[in-house]
Amino acid sequence: MAAVVVFNVWTTYKGALDTANLITDRTLLASARVIAERVRKSDGLVEAPIPPSALEMFASSDQDLVLYRVATSDGLLLAGYPDIVAPPQLPVGLEPLYFDTLFRGTPVRAVVLSRPIIDTGNQQTAIIAVGETLKNRNRLVTDLWLKALRDQVLLVAAAGMLAVFGLRRGIAPLMRLRDEVVSRDPAELQPFDAGAVQTEVRPLVEALNEAFDRVQRLIATQRRFVANAAHQLRTPLALLKTQIVVGRREQGTEAKEEALAAIDRSVDRMARLSNQLLSLARAEQGVSSLRKEAVDMEMAARNALDTLALAAVDRDIDLGFDPVGGPFLVWGHSNLLRELVFNLADNALRYTPRGGAVTVRLEHQAGEVVLLVEDNGPGIPATERENVFERFYRRLDTGGEGTGLGLAIVKEIAASHEATIELKDRAQGPGLVVEVRLAAHEEGAAEG
Ligand SMILES: Nc1ncnc2c1ncn2[C@@H]1O[C@H](COP(=O)(O)OP(=O)(O)OP(=O)(O)O)[C@@H](O)[C@H]1O
Ligand SMILES: [Mg+2]
Repeated sequence: MAAVVVFNVWTTYKGALDTANLITDRTLLASARVIAERVRKSDGLVEAPIPPSALEMFASSDQDLVLYRVATSDGLLLAGYPDIVAPPQLPVGLEPLYFDTLFRGTPVRAVVLSRPIIDTGNQQTAIIAVGETLKNRNRLVTDLWLKALRDQVLLVAAAGMLAVFGLRRGIAPLMRLRDEVVSRDPAELQPFDAGAVQTEVRPLVEALNEAFDRVQRLIATQRRFVANAAHQLRTPLALLKTQIVVGRREQGTEAKEEALAAIDRSVDRMARLSNQLLSLARAEQGVSSLRKEAVDMEMAARNALDTLALAAVDRDIDLGFDPVGGPFLVWGHSNLLRELVFNLADNALRYTPRGGAVTVRLEHQAGEVVLLVEDNGPGIPATERENVFERFYRRLDTGGEGTGLGLAIVKEIAASHEATIELKDRAQGPGLVVEVRLAAHEEGAAEG
């Protein structure tokens, strides 16, 4: 607005000056014409009487000097003084010529006219010049300018007031929203009313509500998890307690041995549960807390399979490892990736009947490292392929011992590595293929 005002002050001044000049010029011309009409030849003499009306038309000439000069074209001065209002050049034809000059140091606006003298048979012309000092004109400029300026200032003031008023009104709903956010209880995550703010801010409030919704769901998941974990720990502890009570009551050494063996198994189960819970917690923080590095998937897989070799022998399962090509570099956390392979291979070994076969493959496919864990066990029906990734979910007809956390851990690790997991049928015969796709890490690529 300040820029506009400055520009306007300048243009209104120009406008006022133009108008005042126009008025001055018209008056000068009218006066010059009245004088020109009276120039005539009588008794062989050219004379130029100056009629009073020619000078009276200058409005308040008490302030300004009106100067005139009449001469013939051959330089004979008829009226006025030689040194006043001398035009810079002679006018051409009947057109008036306006010019600015000085009279004894004072600026003067003047006009010069050329007219044929009556009664000389158009032989002679008279040159009439009329000038006026500029006090009057300057006052007129100031008057015009001030009037225009006053209107502008009023307009700017009105616009400014409206702007302040409008902004206040516009921001009011936002301030209310702010107060609501600030005064809210931290546990309260209900959505805000998007209708209470103006349309422009609505997407922001909606995005906020969406974020709250996600947080709320996360909190709910976490609560459920804690409740589940507590429950899962309580059951084996109760069992353990019973086993101990029973074992104490037994008299024979053999019976006591048996009770101790049962207790041993329970403790193993609980150890596995706490390990899985810890793994899950680690996998969850995976992205945020650990530094990623280039990991060779072949190494990670070999590590995981080494730990499972004994279990495979125990269950009489042919455990194969088949990396095709290589190296299989990915960007991630080596421990988590090892755990991922471990959990998948562990499942395959657990749920495949004795004498079965489990094969872990590594392949390169279009910039991706593909891990395939294949078994010829019972497989998982398509309808349950989503559920098995849930925490503590175990299929009903699943035998053996387990906590139902293995695939949840795998999912968490995959998510923190931006990898995809898919459960598929085997090409021939029953069984399950778990396919994990990770982006291949280019050797020498910038660390990020
Ligand atoms: N290779 C597989 N073949 C058949 N069923 C499987 C296979 N892998 C997983 N499942 C089914 O999916 C369920 C969930 O597996 P998940 O690894 O999450 O838990 P779990 O093996 O029961 O327990 P743990 O936490 O000890 O691994 C299993 O209980 C089982 O029913
Ligand atoms: Mg498992």
